[in-house]
Amino acid sequence: MNFSEEFLQALSSARHVAVLTGAGISAESGVATFRDQDGLWQKFNPAELASMEGFMSNPALVWEWYQHRRGIIGGVEPNEGHKALAAMEQQFEKFTLITQNVDRLHQRAGSSAALELHGNLVENYCMDCRAVYHFADEKAELRENPRCRDCSGLVRPAVVWFGEMLPVETLRAAQIAAQDCQVFLSIGTSAEVMPAAGLPMIARENFAYVVEINPQPTVISGRVHSVIREPAGIALPRLLRELDQFRKSRV
Ligand code: OAD
Repeated sequence: MNFSEEFLQALSSARHVAVLTGAGISAESGVATFRDQDGLWQKFNPAELASMEGFMSNPALVWEWYQHRRGIIGGVEPNEGHKALAAMEQQFEKFTLITQNVDRLHQRAGSSAALELHGNLVENYCMDCRAVYHFADEKAELRENPRCRDCSGLVRPAVVWFGEMLPVETLRAAQIAAQDCQVFLSIGTSAEVMPAAGLPMIARENFAYVVEINPQPTVISGRVHSVIREPAGIALPRLLRELDQFRKSRV
């Protein structure tokens, strides 16, 4: 498959490229997505595991689940899709990486800054005084329901749960990037969860060229300029190669 001339032209002349990623970018690393056939929300109940009500009614269960996911993420590596996005950062005057993922694989692949809309799995914080804990480095500290060393408050994972606000400044920075960019890539997300799912349309309303990279159709597929039906780990390295060739052919 070759990328369209229109897409390569938009990309090669873009000052600012913004990218939104979802669980699909990490699928080829071996991290389960949420809404695919074998996705996490087919097997687990988000109300129990990813909400404040669920945490308050059974913190031990929620901790067990997050520790399990940390174990999985600690045992996998960034894939070619993450690496291609890290390389892309160097190629544009401005590049904004926005992710819904909590796995930190973008950072491990070399991306210097990712706007983490849904928090991360590495940190935990005290619900009372906001002290931050990295239990990966302090295994002995992790008992069933960890308590803050300073104030004894309940410690929770630093992820955003259903019904919670996204970090305000991070979301604002993502919205500004969507308004400012000339090309917006929506990669590996079902685009079902607001407000992240609204970002591609903000970009489109502001005249960006919007592209979806996803092997499956999504709710936004009909509203983007171009759809690439391939896994991100294949499409993104190929995009870098074709963009390079396109630029060379234009000098
Ligand atoms: P989803 O599981 O909803 O969607 C994953 C998308 O990735 C699907 O559209 C797949 O077709 C696509 N996909 C699968 N393999 C792929 C590959 N190799 N390359 C590219 N795409 C691929 O995950 P998200 O959209 O990230 O929130 O879900 C959004 C939010 O819902 C998550 O951040 C999480 C979840 O509940 C919270 O936990 C707050």
